[in-house]
Amino acid sequence: MKVIGIKKPLDKEFLSHIEDLVDSDAVNEMKKVIHHGKTTTFEHCLNVSYYNYLICKKLGLDARAAARGGLLHDLFLYDWHTVTLADGHALQHAKRARANAEKYFDITPLERDIIEKHMFPLTFALPKHRESFVTTLTDKYCGALEVITHRWGKIRGKKG
Ligand SMILES: [Fe+2]
Ligand SMILES: [Fe+2]
Repeated sequence: MKVIGIKKPLDKEFLSHIEDLVDSDAVNEMKKVIHHGKTTTFEHCLNVSYYNYLICKKLGLDARAAARGGLLHDLFLYDWHTVTLADGHALQHAKRARANAEKYFDITPLERDIIEKHMFPLTFALPKHRESFVTTLTDKYCGALEVITHRWGKIRGKKG
């Protein structure tokens, strides 16, 4: 498994925090759907999960919950490119991901907050925990990095 912007092998403690999730059918479903550019929803969630883990560990926060919540934060399980604006994906998908996370896994209240509040401030639901605030930042950072990397690859491809 690879994380965008990270060259070193992934931390073993991180992998132990998410191994049951990575082995599950629900999380593997996210490999079938493109999220941004060429990045699948699984890859995006893994990126967010790892940055969450690194930052929260450094800050002395709950790095395990940050890793697990990060991995499940976009578990909405459909291709959002195919839904209409009226479906309200942008505002509703965090709640859908939280509902799926609760359906398939035994999540903690902190993990639930991380998943449900990750779209703040677009959605007004204020995160209750510092780990959730971290996720609002890593989600946007990873999303931007994924799009830029994809566009940059396209530009380089055209030049070459
Ligand atoms: Fe999201
Ligand atoms: Fe996301």
